[in-house]
Amino acid sequence: MKVVVVGGGGRENAIALSAVSSNNSVYSISHNNNPGLIGISKKHYKINENDKEAVLNVAKKIYPDLVLIGPEDPLSNGVSDILISQKFNVFAPSSKAAKLETSKSFLREFMKYHKIDGNVESYSFTNFDDLKNLVLNLDYEFVLKPDGLTGGKGVLVQGFHFNSKEDGLSIARKLFENGVNKLLVERKLIGEEFSLQALVYNDKIIFLPIVQDYKRAGENDTGPNTGGMGSISFSESGLPFIPENHVEKAKAIMRKLVELMHNEGTPYFGPIYGQFMSTKDGPKLIEVNARFGDPEAINVLDLMDDSIADVAIKLMEGGLPTLNIKNQINVVRYIVPIGYGTDPMPSKLKVDEYYLRKKGLRILYASVDKKGDYLRQTRSRSLALLARGNSLSEIIPKFEGIEKGISGKYYYRKDIGTFESIEKKTSFMNSLLKN
Ligand code: AMP
Ligand code: GLY
Repeated sequence: MKVVVVGGGGRENAIALSAVSSNNSVYSISHNNNPGLIGISKKHYKINENDKEAVLNVAKKIYPDLVLIGPEDPLSNGVSDILISQKFNVFAPSSKAAKLETSKSFLREFMKYHKIDGNVESYSFTNFDDLKNLVLNLDYEFVLKPDGLTGGKGVLVQGFHFNSKEDGLSIARKLFENGVNKLLVERKLIGEEFSLQALVYNDKIIFLPIVQDYKRAGENDTGPNTGGMGSISFSESGLPFIPENHVEKAKAIMRKLVELMHNEGTPYFGPIYGQFMSTKDGPKLIEVNARFGDPEAINVLDLMDDSIADVAIKLMEGGLPTLNIKNQINVVRYIVPIGYGTDPMPSKLKVDEYYLRKKGLRILYASVDKKGDYLRQTRSRSLALLARGNSLSEIIPKFEGIEKGISGKYYYRKDIGTFESIEKKTSFMNSLLKN
């Protein structure tokens, strides 16, 4: 099969690796010279993946059997729409179905209207005065969210990003002054998060193992939110700190969303992912993403023995394939530019792939440009290191000494997937659920 992969990050490198695993030919499209994609693609097209006409022109040259789209921006810029309208086989949602992600207020209203469990108290505002009136009357802590896409970095949480109502209001005022059209005020949830990804075609849904993304820039979950610094999965065993019945409830919520979208004439195709918070009142849906998560895709595609391309085709032909999932644990750590999350300072990196592979790590390249022997970093994440095994004590030592394999200026979180970090999350959840 000829498979086109759109996007140039670590997630797309993982999608392309999964697609080639069953002898498919991959053609990749991204704005950056991603060495991971270039290395496995029959041809790499260095074009802006958000330019729908340019992507269409490439697709017309290749005539692929399948198109897989990684990031959210091409969806909201009409790339999936134009390809679907030209009868290409696209395993990604239309921009209309992607509204579940691109408008947070749409999701909240849809859940409220259909009385779907797991919704969060949320109010949306287009002007500061109305927002202020509500906030002054709140008797709980809140978060502020711009309505549209923010790459996981736009949410401001009371107690982390601002302390008092007054501080929150002054941030909200500035956001409106700076041109944000719609702001949501939501009840702040307390708990541990998990990502539930699935593959969808119309009203059919196949769930993948849950993953936890470490979103904060700093160790011990401190500092600003990022696109994700790394992630862990314990495959079908779930996560040690998330109750099993919360995962079952989360699946029921996602299934209901997908079925309702189908019944209402906006059928969903492609990967979907629910970002859940496991709270003392059960799982709450923080947001839906109309795509795989990044880094979460890296975990699930590594655990899946099937090629994502083959599964997508089977689903689109009307089947409901059973997945072959490895019963192992995996950990991803992202190498990022210094200052990532606030003020990134891109520099040059040199990667000794041989050394890292010998340590048992797999390398997935992200927002970098290969220039000769070097990688030029951008303001976003550079490369992901992935380790899999049967226990954390087998996995974590693989990350020790990675500095010898990567030279240059960079940062990564050393606590991702450690026994201590998981113990901490487990005891936090135990005490939360007891009260
Ligand atoms: P989002 O872009 O909506 O996924 O939010 C990004 C991150 O902000 C989430 O993964 C949470 O860590 C945090 N967040 C969003 N909404 C809430 C909420 N209502 N309560 C607490 N944290 C939240
Ligand atoms: N890891 C968070 C996201 O993909 O949105």
